[in-house]
Amino acid sequence: MPDAAATILFVGDIVGGCGRRTVLRSLPLLRERYEPTFVVVNGENAAGGLGISPRIADELYESGVDAITLGNHAYHRREIIPYLEDHPRLLRPVNYVHSQPGRGTCVIESAAGVRLGVINVSGNLFLKAAHPAFSEVDRALRELGDVEHVLVDMHAEATSEKVAMGWHLDGRVSVVVGTHTHVPTADARVLPGGTAYITDVGMTGARGGVIGVERSRAVENFLTQMPGRFEPASDDPWLMGIVVRCSQPRRADAIEQVLMEAP
Ligand SMILES: [Fe+2]
Ligand SMILES: [Fe+2]
Repeated sequence: MPDAAATILFVGDIVGGCGRRTVLRSLPLLRERYEPTFVVVNGENAAGGLGISPRIADELYESGVDAITLGNHAYHRREIIPYLEDHPRLLRPVNYVHSQPGRGTCVIESAAGVRLGVINVSGNLFLKAAHPAFSEVDRALRELGDVEHVLVDMHAEATSEKVAMGWHLDGRVSVVVGTHTHVPTADARVLPGGTAYITDVGMTGARGGVIGVERSRAVENFLTQMPGRFEPASDDPWLMGIVVRCSQPRRADAIEQVLMEAP
C-alpha cells in the first residue's frame, strides 16, 4: 500500500455565478496555502442556484477540481443527465433509486498513487431519497474496497441525522462532511475513531443573501407568503470549506475550517 499521506480540500455548495467566480478565484490561493492532494466540491447549486450544467462541470474540472458531489438539485438541469452517465467523477446521492441517472461513488487517485473514495449520500429527513442513508452508505463503502481514504458528503437537512452519520462512520472513513443547509457549523473536529467531521461546511457564494438567494426577494417571500422567483445573490462573496490532513489510511490528523472572503 502506498504512503497514505493526503490533504483533502472540500468546498461547500457553490451557489450561482457568484459562487463559481469565488471558487475559481480562490482555488489557486488555496492550492498554494494548503497544497491539497484532492479537491472535492459540492456543485448542486452551481447553475443559477439550482443544479449544474455540463459547461459548469467542465469549468470546475479544468480548474483542478477532482470530483463534484451533488444533492437534491442534482437533476434540475436536464442537460446534465447524459453528462452524469459519461462522467464518473460527478456524483449524485448513492441512495437514490438505482435506475436514476449517474452514480453515487467514485475513486480518484493522486500522482503518488494514494486513492480517495468519494461517496455522496442524501439524508432521509425532509429530503427525497429512495433508500436509507445509513445502510446504503455501508453498502457503498463495501463496494469501494480498500482505498486509502474515503470522503463522505452527507447532503442533509437535519443536524441530528448528520451527527449520527459522523458517529456511524467514525473510524471507517477519513472525512464526513455535511452539506445542504449552506450555513457553516462550529463543530469541526476529529472524532475519537479518527474520522474528521463537520455538520455543515457552508456554501460558496453570496453571504449577503439568504442561503445564496437575493435577500430582498427572500424576505418578501416570507412577508407575503406568496411564491416568487428566486435569483442567486451576489453581495459579499465568501468561500466556505474544510481542509483535512491525513497521514494514516482512513484516519484524519486534523480538520481546519476555511471561511474566506472572495479574493
Ligand atoms: Fe445546496
Ligand atoms: Fe441541497
